[in-house]
Amino acid sequence: MRIYLAEDYKSMSRRAANIISAQVITKPDSVLGLATGGTPVGAYQQLVEWYKKGDLSFAEVKSVNLDEYYGLSPRHEQSYRYFMQSNLFDHIDIKYENTHVLNGLAKSPTVECAEYNKLIRDLGGIDLQLLGMGHNGHIAFNEPGDDFGLETHLVNLTESTIEANKRFFESKDDVPRQALSMGIKNIMQARRILIVVSGAAKADIVYKAFCGPVTKEVPASILQLHPDVTLVGDKEALSKL
Ligand code: GLP
Repeated sequence: MRIYLAEDYKSMSRRAANIISAQVITKPDSVLGLATGGTPVGAYQQLVEWYKKGDLSFAEVKSVNLDEYYGLSPRHEQSYRYFMQSNLFDHIDIKYENTHVLNGLAKSPTVECAEYNKLIRDLGGIDLQLLGMGHNGHIAFNEPGDDFGLETHLVNLTESTIEANKRFFESKDDVPRQALSMGIKNIMQARRILIVVSGAAKADIVYKAFCGPVTKEVPASILQLHPDVTLVGDKEALSKL
């Protein structure tokens, strides 16, 4: 595993954006696995800046997002489709039809998840998967205790995730209780993984994930077994490594 220690959030974001842009420059039709949450926002801003300067094109890129709240319409301001449009897709030349986010309003989660697994396979798999990490070690919405062998599935969010994500909603009651999420298996099948972490509040879980045992109780710990992982974090988040 490669670890980049960045001085602060801005340089962490720049380093992560560097890795993503290098992937796109060397393979313009890359399949990017994309993530939401607060941590990757700076990297997306940096990519938009480079795109606007003419340094980068996403015209042939395809994307698959990790997860989506179940029950939220793509137009809901807290949906992950909305997040991706407003933080990245609306500002670059990626084609809408090449961007894929699970449908939070799917009538049958089972069918939606099976089709998403097929889509990832039909695209030829994920070249570079970007990840953040939840305070309890979740990646995408794979919560502690979830099986490592799962592909895309319907998840019951834990109390700790609902608590952490309520800051984006008017009240805790508005946070959806379920989500559709790629499974650990989908993530582990990506050819390369880039994980970004920021802030002192993540220091303990970052230590557990990368220096502790590989255990379902800390979903991100499985990344120790992936052959090509890059961890980019700021000083606070990496302080216990
Ligand atoms: C959400 C997302 C995760 C993300 C996590 C951490 O729960 N489903 O993909 O990694 O939040 O978010 P943040 O970066 O805001 O700490």
